[in-house]
Amino acid sequence: MSNKPEGRPDERVTLKARKVSFSWEGTPLHWVPGDPFATHTINVLHLLLPAGERWFVHVYRQVLPYIRDERLREDVIGFIGQEAMHSQAHDEVLPHLREQGLDPTPYTAQVDWFFEKLLGDRTLPPGRARRWWLMERVALIAAIEHYTAFLGDWVLNAEELDRRGADPTMLDLLRWHGAEEVEHRSVAFDLFTHLDGGYRRRVRTWATAFAALVFLWQRGTRFFMENDPTLTDGRASFKDFYVRGRRGTLPATGDLLRSVPRYLSRAYHPSREGSTEQAVAYLASSPAALAAEEGAS
Ligand SMILES: [Fe+2]
Ligand SMILES: [Fe+2]
Repeated sequence: MSNKPEGRPDERVTLKARKVSFSWEGTPLHWVPGDPFATHTINVLHLLLPAGERWFVHVYRQVLPYIRDERLREDVIGFIGQEAMHSQAHDEVLPHLREQGLDPTPYTAQVDWFFEKLLGDRTLPPGRARRWWLMERVALIAAIEHYTAFLGDWVLNAEELDRRGADPTMLDLLRWHGAEEVEHRSVAFDLFTHLDGGYRRRVRTWATAFAALVFLWQRGTRFFMENDPTLTDGRASFKDFYVRGRRGTLPATGDLLRSVPRYLSRAYHPSREGSTEQAVAYLASSPAALAAEEGAS
């Protein structure tokens, strides 16, 4: 009998980290031309991901000894390599924002506290409590990865950004990252299923992850809008988000809401979200991924 999770099509790709680098000199502050709100809503990724993905790596390194399936262990190691690279690539955008008068430090300090202290290791005795906290975080990562895959799939298909002349370097960063998110979208959920998989834990950690993401995201967008030196009245509202969603420059609110019951369905598996084929095709043509490949060889 195969130990392949039910419903998972055989489309396994070996996960590898691509050592990409981007140069930001040519990227304007409002890289979605004429749309600071869409620009800054997406820019929140640069605030959340460096600390968030570093935290994924930190948690997964602790989990490796518990994995009893060689194939899954390989996937988790590939996942760690990719997430470490994502974290670094987004971190490297921050000096560019600073040069343009948008110092993100007050916000990133809070995000660092959130991941390193609130969700960090606690002084727990070895045993049940320590394992409980580790499993809780493994489940949280699975829930967050539902959204990173959702966003990855969205950005790979967000043709409206191209039509509006969005900066090609930023689009490549987002699509390289998005494609790798789609590529490894099953790893966090398979790991959670392998180690625990409790349905109540899945629901509880989904609720926590969703609430935290909405909270941090809207605060991050507001932070950028209020501190953008070129805006005199930099406000942000849910309506702004909704309108961009209809336009196609941000994810549509309806699509976001419909993704909720999918994750909470007992039949959920990430392999049914997004397209590996599309992700692999993008990575085969991404300027940053191609340059990384050349560098590696
Ligand atoms: Fe990532
Ligand atoms: Fe990921």
